[in-house]
Amino acid sequence: MEQGSAPNASFASYEEIAAELAALLDGETDPLANVSNAAAAIFHGLSDVNWVGFYVLRGEELVLGPFQGRPACIRLPLGHGVCGTAAAELRSVLVDDVAAFPGHIACDPVSRSELVVPVTAAGRLVGVLDLDSSRVARFTLDDQSGCERLAALVAPYLAEL
Ligand code: SME
Repeated sequence: MEQGSAPNASFASYEEIAAELAALLDGETDPLANVSNAAAAIFHGLSDVNWVGFYVLRGEELVLGPFQGRPACIRLPLGHGVCGTAAAELRSVLVDDVAAFPGHIACDPVSRSELVVPVTAAGRLVGVLDLDSSRVARFTLDDQSGCERLAALVAPYLAEL
């Protein structure tokens, strides 16, 4: 992985992040350790992100899990906001401008665009992977497919939290 000198200056392809993540997960079974390292690998692998983390499905809510970034909203209802929509509809949600997304839940006013990928294990929803950026339209369909791939690697561990 290339590391620039500026904080969060650009770094890795999804191929590289997936390889790093696979290496981090290899031989370790602890779910909290693995999901925590996944959040860190994704956050530090991508440019222009101010928050990357996981929410875990607990009943009818998503509850904050391992993340990198500023402290965030702890409980999110299913079916509301970007995370709750992705979870309820079991689909990735890519938002170019969060101000234009009805029901967006603003944990950090700095965040301007967002990508949320549902995480499923054994056919059931176990949580979501959420990425925020301070830049409008930061995320593309390549980010979506890349993050879906990363989410699949993390899914068995998120299911255990
Ligand atoms: N913006 C999200 C809430 C989670 S934070 O971005 C970390 C939402 O609308 O669901």
